[in-house]
Amino acid sequence: MRKQLTIGLFGFGCVGTGLYEVLNQSNLLDAKIKRIIVKDRTKKRIIGAEHFGYEASEILNDEEINLVVELINDSNEALAIVREALSKGKHVVSANKKLIAEHLDELLNLAKENNVSFLYEASVAGSIPIIRNLEEYYNNDSLSSVQGIVNGTTNYILTQANYGVSYADALQKAQELGFAEADPTLDVDGFDSKFKLVLLIKHAFGLTVQPENVFNYGIRQIKPQDVKYASEKDYRIKLFARAEKIGNKIVGFVAPHFIKKDHVAYQVDNEFNAVIVEASFSDRQLFLGKGAGSFPTASAVLSDVSALQYDYQYEYKKSNTETKPVYAEDFYLKIYLASKDIQALNEIPFYFLDEKFQSSGYNYQTGWVKFSDLSKFDFNNIEKLFFAVLPESFKDEEEFLKFKAENEVLVNEIA
Ligand code: HSE
Repeated sequence: MRKQLTIGLFGFGCVGTGLYEVLNQSNLLDAKIKRIIVKDRTKKRIIGAEHFGYEASEILNDEEINLVVELINDSNEALAIVREALSKGKHVVSANKKLIAEHLDELLNLAKENNVSFLYEASVAGSIPIIRNLEEYYNNDSLSSVQGIVNGTTNYILTQANYGVSYADALQKAQELGFAEADPTLDVDGFDSKFKLVLLIKHAFGLTVQPENVFNYGIRQIKPQDVKYASEKDYRIKLFARAEKIGNKIVGFVAPHFIKKDHVAYQVDNEFNAVIVEASFSDRQLFLGKGAGSFPTASAVLSDVSALQYDYQYEYKKSNTETKPVYAEDFYLKIYLASKDIQALNEIPFYFLDEKFQSSGYNYQTGWVKFSDLSKFDFNNIEKLFFAVLPESFKDEEEFLKFKAENEVLVNEIA
């Protein structure tokens, strides 16, 4: 039987307003918004002041409200709201990836203890239904990798750069369009992608990883020479969030990637996101859709609200298996490392060097590095270095050592 949902909504920004409108336009749902809590009393809004309140208790103490939809920016305030709502036996839908990635297990336990649902489809890749698919569709297939573009703002900036739009102008436009976080550093330095990756890892592989243990590097340090290198090779630069499973080990990271023309992500532009899932039986699949913006994100919230009418809950079956995967960093990546300062290139140990280019203005080298060496550096704050992951660039230790041995023999033979 369909449950009647009475919603208390926190936040009426880009996504909150979108939700209000999509709920009004969808006559399939038995759900109504009873109260909306906002901060700013003076802001002009699309509906009258009688809909709004300013105290969280107006929702949290209202027994008729059985669903809290949390769409505010401040993740600390959101945490307090979500904790209290779950403790009071209300279902919660949230789009707050930072909050969820940082407190996932605590909030899941709270939801379980109170026998309510905590859903967050909108928190990863906007309109793309990836969480529920990882939960349900891939439940019996063994996943080997989940990766892709999960941040609309950076993809928008990188796309606009192809048309000659400056970084600052593209970022401003992304803010105006409602794509960027209140603090856009979260987008451009890869934190937002990392929070989303943490949730993908949980639902794909059943592993809880703390965000501070996941490496993230964004797009702020890209120089015109790097863009030139990419275009000469027919690559596009995309910010990729990537999780790979090798045996019982899971690795995850966020970094700029050079994407080849024949890759499915090459033409994923602007605020579109793409998630590529690889599994034993279904092989490779691509999920494509808008990853940011009012209606696309609201559509995912709407889908959670709709699922709640049937008491849907994530089951986290993969978290309950006997053999737990472990988080690891002992794998190898092929990267492009560039700097104006040739000495700076030596700061990162290369285990196999492919190519080296020197000039008076700019220098780069390509080759294989150990990920655990890279992850020691705070690249977001190292102005003089830029790195990007090259295509076909991932090997575990065994594969890498075999590759290295074979290639060293080759090099010796040529010499
Ligand atoms: N700032 C996020 C993005 C919003 O640009 O993808 C959607 O999560």
